[in-house]
Amino acid sequence: MNITAIQADITTLNVDAIVNAANTSLLGGGGVDGAIHRAAGPELLETCRTLGGCPTGDAKLTEGFKLPARYIIHTVGPVWHGGTRGEADLLASCYQRAMALAESAGARTVAFPSISTGVYRYPIEDAARIAVSTVSEALKQCTAVEAVTFCCFSDADLAVYQAYLEQLSA
Ligand code: AR6
Repeated sequence: MNITAIQADITTLNVDAIVNAANTSLLGGGGVDGAIHRAAGPELLETCRTLGGCPTGDAKLTEGFKLPARYIIHTVGPVWHGGTRGEADLLASCYQRAMALAESAGARTVAFPSISTGVYRYPIEDAARIAVSTVSEALKQCTAVEAVTFCCFSDADLAVYQAYLEQLSA
């Protein structure tokens, strides 16, 4: 299948584009965002300062600097407030916008972290279902993007993504 899930540190992946779960400032933070800024080096922050932030549900592209990945697609997931504040649509929009940017940059391989499911507390089951269904739909429209990897940080998250991916191929 052209969508897979693995357990890894996303900063180590040799793909054309990795996605960052950023915040609206795009000026760095903890979690995967902190790891990406550390691995990419200080030029990433310098570039991010010129971008004017990013609204929740949207995405912006930079180069990957010291990362193996050529591009970083910074997206801002919703903070979970119980599901009544449009969180599902905003999370789906992150995946759609990131896929659209990857496609327009000509990226063939893209890796996503589990957006919003760390500090932003989005329940993993719901978030993974949205991630898998949105990316699989978007991938059908892509000509440049050939393969997508969901890069999970924990065993437990990987199991959830794998279960949804199995449903997709069933
Ligand atoms: N590689 C892959 N996944 C990772 C890595 C890594 N190196 N490090 C953490 N994760 P989070 P959010 C996983 O909190 O919930 C930041 O401060 C992590 O285990 O990074 O969207 C931003 O600046 C979890 O499964 O992102 C924002 O303020 C997933 O990445 C805020 O956190 C997402 O967790 C965004 O919160």
